[in-house]
Amino acid sequence: MDFSIKTLDVKTSVATIKAGTLVVGIFENRKLTQAAQALDKSGAISTVLKSGDITGKPGSTLLLRSLNGVAAERVLLVGLGNEEELTDKNFSSATQAIVRALSTVGSADALLALPFDQIRGRDSAWAIRTLILTARDNSYRSDTMKSKKDPAPAGVKKFVFNIAAAAATAAKNALTEAVALANGMELSKELSNLPGNVCTPTYLANTAKKLAKDFKLGIEVLDRKQLEALKMGSFLSVTNGSDEPPKFIVLKHMGGKIKDAPTVLVGKGITFDTGGISLKPGAGMDEMKYDMCGAASVLGTFRAIAELQLKLNVIGVIPTCENMPSGRATKPGDIVTSMSGQTIEVLNTDAEGRLILCDALTYVERFKPAAVVDIATLTGACVVALGHHNSGLFTREDEAHDQLAAELLAAGKSSGDTAWRMPIQDVYQEQLKSNFADIANIGGQPAGSVTAACFLERFTKKYTWAHIDIAGTAWRGAAAKGATGRPVPLLTTFLLERAKAGQKVRA
Ligand code: BES
Ligand code: MN
Ligand code: ZN
Repeated sequence: MDFSIKTLDVKTSVATIKAGTLVVGIFENRKLTQAAQALDKSGAISTVLKSGDITGKPGSTLLLRSLNGVAAERVLLVGLGNEEELTDKNFSSATQAIVRALSTVGSADALLALPFDQIRGRDSAWAIRTLILTARDNSYRSDTMKSKKDPAPAGVKKFVFNIAAAAATAAKNALTEAVALANGMELSKELSNLPGNVCTPTYLANTAKKLAKDFKLGIEVLDRKQLEALKMGSFLSVTNGSDEPPKFIVLKHMGGKIKDAPTVLVGKGITFDTGGISLKPGAGMDEMKYDMCGAASVLGTFRAIAELQLKLNVIGVIPTCENMPSGRATKPGDIVTSMSGQTIEVLNTDAEGRLILCDALTYVERFKPAAVVDIATLTGACVVALGHHNSGLFTREDEAHDQLAAELLAAGKSSGDTAWRMPIQDVYQEQLKSNFADIANIGGQPAGSVTAACFLERFTKKYTWAHIDIAGTAWRGAAAKGATGRPVPLLTTFLLERAKAGQKVRA
């Protein structure tokens, strides 16, 4: 797919532009946008509206051919809803409808002449990104493992955005960022959708190595021996039942000043979670191939920021292994010693995410990070709390952490990949008491996603840290089963904003 910007004056030249399909908006109450007016010299569009063939409701579409006085072969009318208030919600509905319609038309190119700069509370950059991400998502097929590939969607491959000259530079930047983001999300989806027998820890490590090679990133992959030398007893305890070797991936994108403290992303990479000896029930267990979506989001985000040559130091860390039962597997009640020295009573081997993350969180102390964000499909309880709309965001409460939380929440909002803040407070720590070790790895039923975060918190005292639980947002179940690519938009936007803030400070 190809996306580009064209600057032309809608009023004077939209009718003369040659395009396979020209997309223009109409409002409810038979109102035309400026672009639709410019095409309506013959009155054909007004007639169509009067006839009731299209309502202007958000997401309604009508394809017209060979309009008098219009150079484009087709005109796709799309409803934008209420003209008084073009909301982002209505524009998103229209975007879905446009992408669907353009995937079946007989032309390969489309010029989009929509009121990108009239969306309430959003700018053209947002509108362009929405269109690009929707188009790319629509064309993505999870058919890597199928012997016969799904047919590629027909229709438009070349999308041209008609933008006013004054807004062209901003629009071009938005386009570049959106394409990089789409590439990152696609990598994340692809890795997440691969089955556990293909996407092993070794596969993730090889993917990271390829990414590093393609984009000149720093990379280090630690194996079991090195992890033993680092005394990562907690991480390694999760690998005991598995025949797949564990990997510990460290990716470095050093786009900032050498002395600038890095922002560190840590992604949970359980390539399959059976629960271990605390075995999960069989129904739906296949979905636990998605237990590496945190890792996939880190790799996807690196794909995006590397393509954009982001001026920021970012380090990605991925502890990755399988969680399997076996005669050698960790048993409930076993006590392990984490890299931090804290001992952990493993009361439930299915609470393994925190066991691999805690050692990664200790490992990253060496980078003296500006901030650390971990991303994990950590708890079913987070899905109960927030459903599939918001990721759970957990941080301590002080000035530095409130600031980090605000950055992440804002990045989520502006990218449409939202998170909701949840508490970390000492009162919940009580639930993690162990009779035999420093800490237990489960805190009972109440507030399960909070106690999981509280567990991690004990390993993050030396820096500013946030935890994002993506158990409800990283993939869809049931008939629409598939990875969403979240939270790559949130993370990429967060890093983009950090880079911009850094540039401003220096300027
Ligand atoms: N990977 C799961 C969390 C999960 C479950 C994500 C369902 C998405 C859907 C995690 O390793 C896990 O099993 N967590 C347990 C923790 C419990 C044993 C305290 C859970 O959520 O049930
Ligand atoms: Mn588990
Ligand atoms: Zn898990």
